[in-house]
Amino acid sequence: MSEFVKLTDQAELPAEGEAKEFPCGAKVICVANVNRVISAMDNVCLHRGGPLGQGAIEGDKLVCPWHGWQWDPKTGEAVHSPNLKLKVYPLKMENGEVLIEL
Ligand code: FES
Repeated sequence: MSEFVKLTDQAELPAEGEAKEFPCGAKVICVANVNRVISAMDNVCLHRGGPLGQGAIEGDKLVCPWHGWQWDPKTGEAVHSPNLKLKVYPLKMENGEVLIEL
C-alpha cells in the first residue's frame, strides 16, 4: 500500500495560474495551481522530456516550455491526444504541509 509523504510546505505552493517543480525522492513532481485548485503530476513531458513545472498555465491547461504541448493538470492527459497520459498524484494538506501519495 502506498502512503502519503511530504512534498513541500503549503507556503511554497505555486500562486494561482502558475506551476512549479518539486523534487520528491527519485522523482520530480509538477504542481499546478489552476483557479486555486492544486494538482500534481509527473514533471517529464511525454514529447521530449520537457520540464512541465517550468511551463505556463493557459486557461486550465499547462503548456510545456519546450514545444508547447498542452496538458490537463487534473487528469494528466495531453490535450491533442488523451491516450498520452502523465501520472497524476493525490495530494492532501495537513498542518501547513503538502503530502503526496506516490
Ligand atoms: S518536450 Fe514538451 S512539448 Fe516537446
